[in-house]
Amino acid sequence: MASITASYPWTTAPLIAGAPMRLISGPSLAHAISSAGGIGFLAAGTDVSTLSENLSTFESLLSASPIPGAPSDVLPIGVGFIVWGADLNLAAKAFSELPEPPAAVWLFAPSSSEELGSWANGIRSATKGKSKIWVQVSCIADAIDAVRVADPDVFVIQGADAGGHGRYASAGLISLVPELIDAVRSYYAKGSGNASSPPKFIAAGGIADERGVNAILALGADGAALGTRFLAAEEAVIRKGYQDAVLNAVDGGNSTIRTDVYDKLRGTVGWPEGYGGRGVINLSYSDAVKGVSFEENEKLYKAAEGAGDEGWGEGKARMTTYAGTAVGLVKKVATAGDIVKELRGEIVVQRI
Ligand SMILES: Cc1cc2nc3c(=O)[nH]c(=O)nc-3n(C[C@H](O)[C@H](O)[C@H](O)COP(=O)(O)O)c2cc1C
Repeated sequence: MASITASYPWTTAPLIAGAPMRLISGPSLAHAISSAGGIGFLAAGTDVSTLSENLSTFESLLSASPIPGAPSDVLPIGVGFIVWGADLNLAAKAFSELPEPPAAVWLFAPSSSEELGSWANGIRSATKGKSKIWVQVSCIADAIDAVRVADPDVFVIQGADAGGHGRYASAGLISLVPELIDAVRSYYAKGSGNASSPPKFIAAGGIADERGVNAILALGADGAALGTRFLAAEEAVIRKGYQDAVLNAVDGGNSTIRTDVYDKLRGTVGWPEGYGGRGVINLSYSDAVKGVSFEENEKLYKAAEGAGDEGWGEGKARMTTYAGTAVGLVKKVATAGDIVKELRGEIVVQRI
C-alpha cells in the first residue's frame, strides 16, 4: 500500500501535520510547515468569510517562495473546518473560485452524521475530487459513522490529551490509535466502505517532540498532527501573553482541563453535545468552580480581554489559553520549519 507521503509529494516521512487552530493557524504558519516537508492546515474554523482572503495570501507566499515537489493541480496545504458552525456553500464557492484547491480538507465536530456526509460530498464535488478528505474523530463510534457517511481519505485520531476542542469521552492515544485502526480496517474487511481506497491514520493529542512521533508510529499511525507545539511557532498568529502562558505551563495533566467555561465566557457556544475545550487552568476556571456567579466571572473576563497581554499576567490570568497536556514539553519559540525538523529527528534537541 502506498505510504501517506505519496499522496502529498512535497512531504517527507514521517508525515507531520500542523493542525488547524481557529484564529491561530494562518497562511504563514501553514506555508512554513509545508515548506519544511509537513502539511500545514489553514484554520477556517466556524467562520468561512475570511477563507478566500487567507487562501490568496497563501498563494502570494507560495509564488514568492515555492515549495519543491508541490504538484501543480492542488495547493500544498490543507484547510480545516469546524463543521457544525461553518457554511458549506461559502466553503465550496471559495474552493471552486481557486485555480487549484487545497490538497486536503479537514472536517471536525459535525452536529450529525448527515452533516458530515454533506460536507464530504460537497467538498469533493467543489474540488472535483482533488482535495483529500481528512476527518478528525476521538472515538470508535464516530469513526465508524464517518466511514459510513464520508469515506474519509485520512482519519485524524484525536486523543484525550489534545488541546482545544475535543470530546470529553475520549481515550489516550496509546489505546485509541490501535483500537480505532483495527475497527476501521475490520469494517473495510467486511466489505463495507470503499475497499479501493482504505484510509490512512494520523494521530493527534499530546505529541510535542520526536519521542511522541515515534510512539504513534509504533502504534500503527501513518503520521502525527500537532496543535499545541505550534502555538510556540514564530509564524503562529498568537498574543505574546498567550504564547508565554503556554511556555510557562508545566505538568499538563494538572495544569490543563477540558471544560466549557471558556466557551461560555467568550461566547463561542453552539458546540455539539459532548465537546469541551482543553486549556490552561486560570482564574476564570477556578472562579467558576468556586461558585463565583457567571455574571461576575464574565465581567472579570471582559476586563481581562481589555487588558491585552496582561490578561494572561502571572497570578491574574483569566484569558482563554487553549493548549493540550503536552504544554510542559513546549519550552521555546522556534520557527515552524525547525519544529517540523525536530519532530522528524533531523534537529537534535538538548533536553537536560
Ligand atoms: C489553540 C487550539 C485551537 C484549535 N482549534 C481547532 C480548530 O479550529 N479546528 C480543529 O479541527 N481542531 C482544533 N484544535 C484541535 C486540533 O485539531 C488537535 O486535535 C490538537 O491540537 C492536537 O493536540 P495537541 O494540541 O496536543 O497537539 C485546536 C487546538 C488548539 C490547541
